[in-house]
Amino acid sequence: MQVVAQIAAMQRLARKWQHAGLRIAFVPTMGFLHPGHVSLILRARRAVGVGGKVVVSIYVNPTQFGPKEDFTRYPRDLKGDLQMCREAGADTVFTPDDQAMYPGKGEGLYSTFVVEEKLTQSMEGASRPSHFRGVTTVVAKLLHCVLPDVAVFGQKDFQQAAVIRRMTADLNFPVKIIVAPTLREPDGLAMSSRNKYLAGDQRRQATVLWRSLQAARAAVQGGSPVKAVRLLEQLKKLIAAEPEVRLDYLEFFNPDSLEPVSLVVPGTQAALAVFVGSTRLIDNMRL
Ligand code: PAF
Repeated sequence: MQVVAQIAAMQRLARKWQHAGLRIAFVPTMGFLHPGHVSLILRARRAVGVGGKVVVSIYVNPTQFGPKEDFTRYPRDLKGDLQMCREAGADTVFTPDDQAMYPGKGEGLYSTFVVEEKLTQSMEGASRPSHFRGVTTVVAKLLHCVLPDVAVFGQKDFQQAAVIRRMTADLNFPVKIIVAPTLREPDGLAMSSRNKYLAGDQRRQATVLWRSLQAARAAVQGGSPVKAVRLLEQLKKLIAAEPEVRLDYLEFFNPDSLEPVSLVVPGTQAALAVFVGSTRLIDNMRL
């Protein structure tokens, strides 16, 4: 497995593979990898086969963090990450730094951003202004570095995956977007690098994300529509029962348009974000 830090070197390698007729699958990450990421790498391998190339990027992208968010304390472990990539069978790990990705940004010499204007208005976009601008910008840049045929994103960031799909379609990126299922701990908590922040009883309380989604699914299982406002009230009580958990948003929406629905039925998507202490966690489920 090779590690490439320079953008020009990554592009040269990708072009060389393309000329040799090899397909490239790409898994963009912010590092601190866990088994959820490994499942994305394995999915990428499945997409291009043993003869193809799998590239994982590790880059904690500053432009997708708000000024009061956890950019500086975001967990980092390059050595452990490289080991996991190796074990998962990645061919190349791309590790650009801020200077390579946003040259001159501190001096006001970086001024181009990619903005999706519709799907980013609700949920994560409403709670974290400028977050998606950072995500679409960095993903567009990474796609230009790695030149993949397919790119794999996790279902846990449901809205992010929808936004990336839209961006790549709207801007004619010649890449297929694959969205891979969320990996969960045995008690249902979605795997996330931020789970590391959970201390003491917070780890148990954090399962309320999963329990809320399960309760929502149970409520619509009979097949008859349930009013979104009523279901929301029910789930808010579940969340309020956990002393360190504070709800940021909980929405029921159409999984394609991301438009909120007033009646929840099987097939409606539910997504929520909560703070557990100061740690912000998200999850979602097709009901
Ligand atoms: O999902 C993530 O880890 C990040 O948002 C991504 C896609 C790597 C862009 O920085």
